[in-house]
Amino acid sequence: MAEKISVLISEEAVAEKIHEMAVQISRDYEGRQIHMICVLKGGVFFMTELSKHVGVPCSLDFMSVSSYGNDTVSSGKIKILKDLDESIEGKDVLVVEDIVDSGRTLSYLLEELKQRKPNSLKLCTLLDKPDRRKVDVRVDYTGFAIPDAFVVGYGLDYQQRYRNLPYIGVVEL
Ligand code: IMP
Ligand code: MG
Repeated sequence: MAEKISVLISEEAVAEKIHEMAVQISRDYEGRQIHMICVLKGGVFFMTELSKHVGVPCSLDFMSVSSYGNDTVSSGKIKILKDLDESIEGKDVLVVEDIVDSGRTLSYLLEELKQRKPNSLKLCTLLDKPDRRKVDVRVDYTGFAIPDAFVVGYGLDYQQRYRNLPYIGVVEL
């Protein structure tokens, strides 16, 4: 069944924003190396595009997480489905996410990563839905703050589909 998708942020606007973010991040990390951690699967399109435009040395790793049980569980505990390949000790880590919604996933993940003693730990997200926040998370770089709507594209899915759309769209259910 195909849903109707309306464009919220065009392909051009997404690309331009990611380039701007890359310029800012390159400035902030001047003289250092960034260890980017992509949160699969949603963050993959954003991380590849961002990393292509960052002007400082970059290494990449991937992690996959899921919520424990159903979404109504308020513990915010996540299960690590795929852990990082490399240690992050002493590294300047930048976590790259598609979207921060309630903030539960990221707050748990950042706490977990902090235990592993990185030199620094920052969070970069393409999209943020601030109105939906349940848990406080410090976001260091945000592409777009968006209203509370269910979005797809550029890594974001609806029932595993639409991740490959080159723009951000709203699903009309
Ligand atoms: P949080 O723990 O509530 O912040 O959950 C964030 C995760 O929920 C994201 O990494 C996405 O996988 C998913 N998510 C939240 N909002 C949307 C949306 O509008 N479209 C698609 N996935 C979403
Ligand atoms: Mg995600």
